[in-house]
Amino acid sequence: MDFTPITTQQPLPIGQKDGHVQPTELLRRGPVSVRNATESEEDREFIGKLVIEAFERKVVHATSRASLPAMNTIYSNHMRGRPPLFYERHFIAEYNGERAGTCVLHYHGDAELFPDRTEDIPPLSCCDICGLWLLQLGTPKDYPAGKCYLDPICVDEKFRGKGIGKVLLDMAEIDAKKRGCKVIYLLVATTNRAQHLYERQGYHVIEKKSLCCCGYWCMTGEREFARMDKVLD
Ligand SMILES: CC(C)(COP(=O)(O)OP(=O)(O)OC[C@H]1O[C@@H](n2cnc3c(N)ncnc32)[C@H](O)[C@@H]1OP(=O)(O)O)[C@@H](O)C(=O)NCCC(=O)NCCS
Repeated sequence: MDFTPITTQQPLPIGQKDGHVQPTELLRRGPVSVRNATESEEDREFIGKLVIEAFERKVVHATSRASLPAMNTIYSNHMRGRPPLFYERHFIAEYNGERAGTCVLHYHGDAELFPDRTEDIPPLSCCDICGLWLLQLGTPKDYPAGKCYLDPICVDEKFRGKGIGKVLLDMAEIDAKKRGCKVIYLLVATTNRAQHLYERQGYHVIEKKSLCCCGYWCMTGEREFARMDKVLD
């Protein structure tokens, strides 16, 4: 099977504003629009800050509260100097033109295409390195062929409940279908109310995963995850 990526958007540039190339709008629903992330400092910092804030409990569990700024930097560095396809995997939702949410898609072979880089990591304590390593262990990297893995998805607290998460999920489906996937899936802590949103969107729990004793708890601060799949028409 050929996994050559299919182009899902018009080629850039599409327009200029303040001397900057404006990324193409991929989807619009009322005040919510979605586009791909760019390598710009603003986009990288927005995504880094949002992801770390949205998953603060997990990050603090793995490292420490004092390390949150460093974790932010890692995420922002991780998004620097990547090939164009990398930015096609990252989506930013805007609400009336203001950055409000993000989601990231992963396809077969992405772990090799976009490897983690040690140079993205600022100096950290041994405990933090160990915690990050455990967190990584609890994060899937082997994305099966023909399936799209969604992780993370998050919306800035002040914009939640306005339908932005739903629009991001719609965008994810559009992209997954265009890239020939039959299934889109995600992992969600069974205590997370985001499951309601996924159910409404047509995702079903395929299995619940917990490791014996304190397995997932040590890695992520959560005891049980549900794998939820949606079969794409
Ligand atoms: C989950 C999330 C992306 C949804 O974005 P959103 O724009 O608020 O979503 P929508 O307005 O389209 O839909 C509302 C649904 O989102 C979910 N949601 C809203 N606030 C939430 C929160 N603080 N935590 C988790 N889920 C939340 C709920 O399922 C809600 O439906 P409900 O009110 O019937 O329970 C967003 O709430 C978020 O970033 N949460 C924190 C990070 C997270 O838990 N991400 C999911 C990991 S699998």
